[in-house]
Amino acid sequence: MSAHGPAIPMSSAPCGPLTGTADVPGDKSVSHRSLILGAMAVGETKISGLLEGQDVLDTAKAMQAFGAEVTNHGDGKWSVHGVGVGGFAEPDNVIDCGNSGTGVRLIMGAMATTPISATFTGDASLNKRPMARVTDPLALFGTQAHGRAGGRLPMTLVGAADPVPVEYRVPVPSAQVKSAVLLAGLNVPGQTVVIEREATRDHTERMLSGFGAQIVVEDTEGGHRITLTGQPELRPQTIAVPRDPSSAAFPVCAALIVPGSDVLVPGIGLNPTRAGLYQTLQDMGADLTFENMRDEGGEPVADLRARFSPDMTGIEVPPERAASMIDEYPVLSVVAANAQGVTMMRGVRELRVKESDRIDAMATGLRANGVEVDEGEDWWSVQGRGAGSVSGGATCASHLDHRIAMSFLILGMAAKKAVSVDDGGPIATSFPIFEPLMAALGADLSRSGA
Ligand code: S3P
Repeated sequence: MSAHGPAIPMSSAPCGPLTGTADVPGDKSVSHRSLILGAMAVGETKISGLLEGQDVLDTAKAMQAFGAEVTNHGDGKWSVHGVGVGGFAEPDNVIDCGNSGTGVRLIMGAMATTPISATFTGDASLNKRPMARVTDPLALFGTQAHGRAGGRLPMTLVGAADPVPVEYRVPVPSAQVKSAVLLAGLNVPGQTVVIEREATRDHTERMLSGFGAQIVVEDTEGGHRITLTGQPELRPQTIAVPRDPSSAAFPVCAALIVPGSDVLVPGIGLNPTRAGLYQTLQDMGADLTFENMRDEGGEPVADLRARFSPDMTGIEVPPERAASMIDEYPVLSVVAANAQGVTMMRGVRELRVKESDRIDAMATGLRANGVEVDEGEDWWSVQGRGAGSVSGGATCASHLDHRIAMSFLILGMAAKKAVSVDDGGPIATSFPIFEPLMAALGADLSRSGA
């Protein structure tokens, strides 16, 4: 079974050049945060370009359950009538966050310092993922969590009635943990401090500032020190969600490895805390050009053009870049298989606790398709043998993980034989128009399976 229904087996056959314009959907991270902060503001926040993937729709439903009014006006335009910081109502029912770690962890943070209880659950993938990384810091505010063994969902949170401010050093590079603590700090008198050693995506900090919260980010020897002053009145905003660089990665990487391709991806978000993949691809020799660099709604944006790049070489990806491209390693490994030489990826332990164990899922599927992969607990490497060298022909397990499913379908586009996935259903969580968008560029996708 897929996340929300029967499995959808899919195949991707070798195809001719990919050409044209790829209008990828709105950024998932920014979309979740727009809905959650909109729900915590007083008055109406207007959002355009919202990602209407299942993960974000589940967050929209959750915000309604906590008392906000969320309206879909069609064509990516949404509005949220917020209830103010501390104004969440106790939900009548269990909050189902589906496949989304970002959704559940941010919402837990947002409700953790309001004296209400809420029970959270998710699909088979989410219910396996660690929640203690969020509930441990939330306990410092006075929040109680009662979950399954190992800190797994389903889990009930009892919000702190008299929360105290917290200073917390995030032990793993995780924007979800950082954001959960900051969102919890909103309803706490005094200053909440979060320190992160490695910079992770900073959409929460940018957006909090846009909504009128007092938030100061300092570069210190120990890393980023973020200080939030609690109990602000958040002012509703008008938010234009940039297109998702993590979704853009799929048509871009496909264009790099399919002979003759030339694809334009307009208006993608290029926040430096998200853009590591594109730097890495350029380091490998990819033909990428960034045009029309601009600022939209507090986020840097550009039009990105990607052309077939037959001379890419394997590289050692700098481990300090990992946080800025953490979701892109699966599709990077597909490009690496089509480059010449070894691509080494270190410092990527976090890949093991995503929607699936992404190192294991990719290594198994790549090997089945004739690619040599080596791995350790926090690293993996791919032996590339040049453009068009991958034999293909195998079916890969997607493990309820959208990025694994899409990565293997990209692999098939440049392989000698078609590559299949057992279930493409999870793609709808983040990139619901993946199939028609890739088909319009020239991909040969089908739902028939192997
Ligand atoms: C996200 C943070 C990252 C990322 C996820 C989205 C976010 O997770 O993998 O897809 O929006 O904050 P971690 O915080 O676990 O690294």
